Amino acid sequence: MGVKLGILGLGTVGTGTVQLLQDSAGRHPLLQEIEIYRVGVRSLDKPRAVELSTEMLTTDLDSIVNDPAVDIVVEVMGGLEPARSLILKALSNGKHVVTANKAAIARFGAEIFTTANQAGVYVMLEAAVGGGIPVIQPLKQSLSVNRIHTVTGIVNGTTNYILTRMQTEGSNFNDVLADAQRLGYAEADPTADVDGLDAGDKIAILASLGFGGRINLEDVYTEGIRQVSKTDIAYAEKLGFVIKLLAIAKRDTPSSPLSVRVHPTLVPQAHPLASINGVYNAILVEGEPIGQVMFFGPGAGAGATASAVTSDILNLVAVLKTNTAVANPLLTCGHQEYCQIAP
Ligand code: NAP
Ligand code: HSE
Repeated sequence: MGVKLGILGLGTVGTGTVQLLQDSAGRHPLLQEIEIYRVGVRSLDKPRAVELSTEMLTTDLDSIVNDPAVDIVVEVMGGLEPARSLILKALSNGKHVVTANKAAIARFGAEIFTTANQAGVYVMLEAAVGGGIPVIQPLKQSLSVNRIHTVTGIVNGTTNYILTRMQTEGSNFNDVLADAQRLGYAEADPTADVDGLDAGDKIAILASLGFGGRINLEDVYTEGIRQVSKTDIAYAEKLGFVIKLLAIAKRDTPSSPLSVRVHPTLVPQAHPLASINGVYNAILVEGEPIGQVMFFGPGAGAGATASAVTSDILNLVAVLKTNTAVANPLLTCGHQEYCQIAP
């Protein structure tokens, strides 16, 4: 029997995910076990870029998370409510959840993971940070034996795209933002991008994983790129710097306080983060004994994000089909090990 997906949202990420799932030839064979079963949207009248039967689409998202036939709920609708309530209902109903929603995870992570623990199901969130870049799982698994000192990232594709085009083409902020929206990089409310809030949510999640404990968003200093002018960028260049919106989590010693912040930063042109341009993101992790590790790739957009969402779905299919998580509990972003994020 196929694994049935209930997808909440058919926008940029939802559409990219459906497209990837509908074109499974030459990809991982387990993808063929997946059945797109129900898809929740706000409007049934909107033209869609994917072919789905009309019975599959619904505006009643509760009916998806309450449907006993649904195995995995994929939350790609965004926003805080009703996304939070739908995720909680899905988990309470014993469904695994994949989400790309960093805003919901950064605010309600503790509640969401506690509910998942109680229900014995998994929450996967690779797409929530860094778009297509695999960074959540590596930080949780491969790097988890290190004592992390800093996580420094360009974690918002929209603002990096804007700053890059302002720098290389002298483009106007509002024109480039409109392009980022058209390309599907920006949040539904792009204020979250340009004011650094989206990057704040993402660094809070990365800091929870890297340093343990829950990060209060009120403790994350956030400043966006609205005040950065073309003149600032030109002066920075003359002095040997580029301006990047950096998200930084830093702890000097295991007993020092953790500092988590987002702000435009003068980055020396020779620094590895200085050459990350356009919609690309990069996350530089520094720890002991490993030294420096950098993750780099497309930070937003339909295809890149669909790759991360679908890899999470695939891990859950493996769990459902082979019980792999029992043999290897670190395979998934599951309940036990994610208690790092719980209070
Ligand atoms: P989007 O293009 O705005 O799509 C949102 C989808 O959800 C739409 O299909 C919309 O329905 C549906 N929806 C929203 N609210 C709804 C409601 N109350 N009831 C029913 N349906 C509702 O958003 P997106 O860019 O795909 O982003 C989705 C999530 O992925 C967000 O959490 C975002 O932060 C995250 N994310 C996005 C990217 C990216 O590159 N875009 C990358 C990583 C993570 P209609 O189509 O009918 O309007
Ligand atoms: N709006 C986000 C960005 C999408 O531009 O990075 C990816 O999380």
